[in-house]
Amino acid sequence: MSIETTRTTYNYKVVRQFAIMTVIWGIVGMTVGVLIAGQLVWPQLNFDTAWLSFGRLRPLHTNAVIFAFGGSALFATSYYVVQRTCQTRLFGGWLVPFTFWGWQLVILLAAITLPLGFTSSKEYAELEWPIDLLIAVVWVSYLIVFVGTVHQRKTSHIYVGNWFFMAFIIVVTVLHVVNSAAIPVSMWKSYSIYPGAIDAMTQWWYGHNAVGFFLTAGFLGMMYYFVPKQSGRPIYSYRLSIVHFWALIATYMWAGGHHLHYTALPDWAQSVSMIMSLILLAPSWGGMINGMMTLSGAWHKLRTDPILRFLVVSLSFYGMSTFEGPMMAIKTVNALSHYTDWTIGHVHAGALGWVAMISIGATYHMIPKVFGKASMASTKLINIHFWLATAGTVLYICAMWVNGILQGLMWRAVNSDGTLTYSFVEALEASHPGFFVRWLGGMLWVTGMLIMAFNVWQTVRSTDEVEIDNTIPQAA
Ligand code: HEM
Ligand code: HEM
Repeated sequence: MSIETTRTTYNYKVVRQFAIMTVIWGIVGMTVGVLIAGQLVWPQLNFDTAWLSFGRLRPLHTNAVIFAFGGSALFATSYYVVQRTCQTRLFGGWLVPFTFWGWQLVILLAAITLPLGFTSSKEYAELEWPIDLLIAVVWVSYLIVFVGTVHQRKTSHIYVGNWFFMAFIIVVTVLHVVNSAAIPVSMWKSYSIYPGAIDAMTQWWYGHNAVGFFLTAGFLGMMYYFVPKQSGRPIYSYRLSIVHFWALIATYMWAGGHHLHYTALPDWAQSVSMIMSLILLAPSWGGMINGMMTLSGAWHKLRTDPILRFLVVSLSFYGMSTFEGPMMAIKTVNALSHYTDWTIGHVHAGALGWVAMISIGATYHMIPKVFGKASMASTKLINIHFWLATAGTVLYICAMWVNGILQGLMWRAVNSDGTLTYSFVEALEASHPGFFVRWLGGMLWVTGMLIMAFNVWQTVRSTDEVEIDNTIPQAA
């Protein structure tokens, strides 16, 4: 490519690479999810093999779906959005492909070390110290690329989607570096530098903000670009989006203690986190309403456009999970929900309903554009995918609500003489039908993802080519 072309076109290569990996890692991560869901129904599915056991595969599932699938979707969309809204090519030269290959290497190392049982034992931060160092280098490179691109923008203001992406990248850098600080004792073993309750507090400051920034702020950046684009309407309120941004950023940081109710964390810290979680409902719903209202005057498009359906339904699940979360943060509610499947249902309302749905909608929007095709090969298949994903999510979360409340009530039931009414195994047996329904929901999801892969494949190889719209508008 000549220097002139490089100056006047957007860099879509890296967007294409991350978009394809989003689909591939989505299938891998969710298939592992279905396998572990199956193991809870049919325990013999671990085949008496250590690396196939639930304890080893569970962190593989969470890392694959959050960081490989969600991470690739965030890289793809943020690189696409920042170039188009800043009207400039990605900054950073070789750093750009380095973020792609570096991130894939992190994922590969995770896929090898986790089944082998190497783990720091910190949830969502399980990877051992050599991989943590690599993550830090890749993530700082991402930060340089993103901020450098925003800095060289040709537009006067920074579009709100980029504010969310930037907050996500900056905060994840801080969270990762602080929470992963450890003393290595061998190549694959290290110990956290924090003692006891301080370690727990740091971990859940990290854990909750991983939800708030990795699984929320970045995807809100997506929402602010793809919902207006796909619906052909301007964002409902730019002013509300700025209030939404600052209110969300200011509140999330203080809520992590709700993961440690009734533990050694000081009682006042638990209560502060409960109050901050309740306050968090307001900015979360402000953002959701801003996204939903963007459809004013364009609701009829939902009848014919399944991509828009993915985006809008994701916002409904976002609203639902950010209502449920603050309720579960109330200490008396948490006394029932904690340790039960209710938490797992809440997680997947957010993860499948919000994170996966919006990523899929955004990917369907981007794929034809970055591959120079008129549209996705089959709208019908997108529609089938949409219904499989929606039905799968509903089956998953309803099963977990029933299981969660059932488990909570059975565990706390006591006889008049003070002994427990039910043994743990009885509660487990009662959960069996719910485990099966969750597995079924997961199967629907994986089927939908395979259909997506087929549709993407058909689109990429289709001859229905249009000129790639990647010319950077030149300043007058
Ligand atoms: C086919 C779809 C999926 C299935 C069948 C599935 C299944 C599961 C299962 C069985 C567990 C373990 C539950 C337990 O320990 O009792 C789990 C945990 C988890 N999954 Fe998924 N999952 C799916 C998709 C996803 C996606 C797309 C994400 C994120 C974007 C996700 C994020 C998580 C997280 C964060 C946990 C840990 C929850 C906690 O510790 O409270 N899952 N999943
Ligand atoms: C206003 C927003 C939210 C609040 C206040 C909130 C609150 C909570 C609470 C109270 C728990 C249970 C903690 C426990 O008993 O251990 C929880 C767990 C969790 N939530 Fe949320 N939630 C919110 C939104 C979300 C969203 C949108 C997602 C996903 C995209 C999400 C992902 C998770 C995960 C992964 C866990 C499980 C953590 C673990 O124990 O491994 N949350 N949340």
